[in-house]
Amino acid sequence: MSFDDGSGMAEGLWWQTGVIYQIYPRSFSDASGDGVGDLRGVINRLDYIVGLGIDAIWLSPIYPSPMADFGYDVSSYVDIDPVFGTLDDFDELLSQAHQRGIRVILDLVLNHTSDEHPWFIESRSSRSSPKRDWYLWRDPAPDGGVPNNWTAFFGGSTWELDEGTGQFYLHLCHRKQPDLNWRNPDVRAAIYDVMRFWFDRGVDGFRIDALWILIKDEDFTDNPEPPSQHGEGFIGGYMRPGFEDHSEVQDIVSEMRMVADEYPERVLMGEIYLPVERLVRYYGEDLTGLHLPFNFGLVTTTEWGARSASRLVATYEAALPEGAWPNWVLGNHDQPRIASRAGEADSRMAQMLLLTLQGTPICYFGDELGMRDCVIPDEFTVDPQAAAGRSRDGARTPMQWSLAPHAGFTTPHAVPWLPVDGSYPNINVEVQDVDPRSHLSLFRRLIELRREHPALHLGSQKVMNGDREELLVFLREHNGDRVLVILNFGSSVLAVDSMEVGEKARVLCSTLMDRFGDVYISSLELRSHEGLLLALTDAG
Ligand code: GLC
Repeated sequence: MSFDDGSGMAEGLWWQTGVIYQIYPRSFSDASGDGVGDLRGVINRLDYIVGLGIDAIWLSPIYPSPMADFGYDVSSYVDIDPVFGTLDDFDELLSQAHQRGIRVILDLVLNHTSDEHPWFIESRSSRSSPKRDWYLWRDPAPDGGVPNNWTAFFGGSTWELDEGTGQFYLHLCHRKQPDLNWRNPDVRAAIYDVMRFWFDRGVDGFRIDALWILIKDEDFTDNPEPPSQHGEGFIGGYMRPGFEDHSEVQDIVSEMRMVADEYPERVLMGEIYLPVERLVRYYGEDLTGLHLPFNFGLVTTTEWGARSASRLVATYEAALPEGAWPNWVLGNHDQPRIASRAGEADSRMAQMLLLTLQGTPICYFGDELGMRDCVIPDEFTVDPQAAAGRSRDGARTPMQWSLAPHAGFTTPHAVPWLPVDGSYPNINVEVQDVDPRSHLSLFRRLIELRREHPALHLGSQKVMNGDREELLVFLREHNGDRVLVILNFGSSVLAVDSMEVGEKARVLCSTLMDRFGDVYISSLELRSHEGLLLALTDAG
């Protein structure tokens, strides 16, 4: 697929050519010494972020919150939780980031608020409250039980009885996260004003949380049972017709896009766990929807290998609407880390894949080091989703900065909110920074190459695997700049054999960081679990 077609995208916007880095603020860097990361901690680490070469940070929620879901339960949309700092700290972060050329994207949690948000407090105060209809209230079933059979993502029924008014409210996630009624125009207007509040402050975009479940079936019809063949996590097919992917969500998406378009060069990214054919609808008709509906293919795939990766690329390319900008996600705060899913060697290949595929890469903090999921003993488990047997704590442990106590995440006498993984003496920034072959050095080099080569940040993409089972090969190309990516997922040395790309090439980077110089493609061999980036030097 190629974009240099005179569509006006030839040079690319920042969110197209750049790399986005997700920070889970509780776990990134704790300057205050209370064991929880904060905005000052992020400010202190901005030079590290610049050194990575990334272009934008996306911060998971930093708004006031009772923290039942660690910030995804918002009790005010227009302030900062004291655990993270103040609005002044936020303004300083924004200005210091901007001075360094780093954009800042916030998380917009709008399917639900906290039950401690003033809107909900007012809504539950009486059946005749002016905000009653801002949330989804239902009478009990005739037998006095829950209104229907819907099950929450965090386990149990989606319905919670409010004793005071005798009705149930809907919560698709935790009972402390009542769902907003997105059919109510006042709710929409209020959230669009929240967007303007942050855009006016200079925020560069939003990652919109749980976007595909905003609108619920008007009659609250039971979901078919069992609800999903894939279990009850966010991952899965279209199995919950009661609240997944209603066409009215598209109207909301285009309204949000209109708000974003009141400002120059803002970006809207969306969390949508749907099969690709449904996902791409969120680009909107004539691309008037999201700029980047998250493509979770690399996260949700249950197989890690050349075949599945090339299948993912092919399915995605086939589904993308004309002119839509692709994106790839490798990890986030809800999913096991890539180094645990794929193993150390393949986690290096995964970084190469993420940073060379066509489209915007979205990286999760710590993956640049190859951080692994921490095994958290039950007594330290804090994730509310653990109640449903799917704790996400392992992927949320503190960033491993150094050999210092608590891996340098917080002050020595503090107790980190989640344990630091035992791998930190080897897997940390301090050690990897000075090791030219480290995971971190690889990550930086890949971003540097991505920036240097228009083929990588703008170019067309052609998968050239043929029927090779363990090799994934693809060509990126832009105005004569040609870069070949070869990944050997196999456990033996593989010869590449000749390909229709010419003979001569120069090694730009091996995932093992130990190969340089000129090579001939027909005599090239890749070691097991090695990825190679080659600049093609024969005329194209
Ligand atoms: C999103 C967030 C997740 C949160 C959920 C409920 O999926 O990524 O962390 O628990 O929404 O807000």
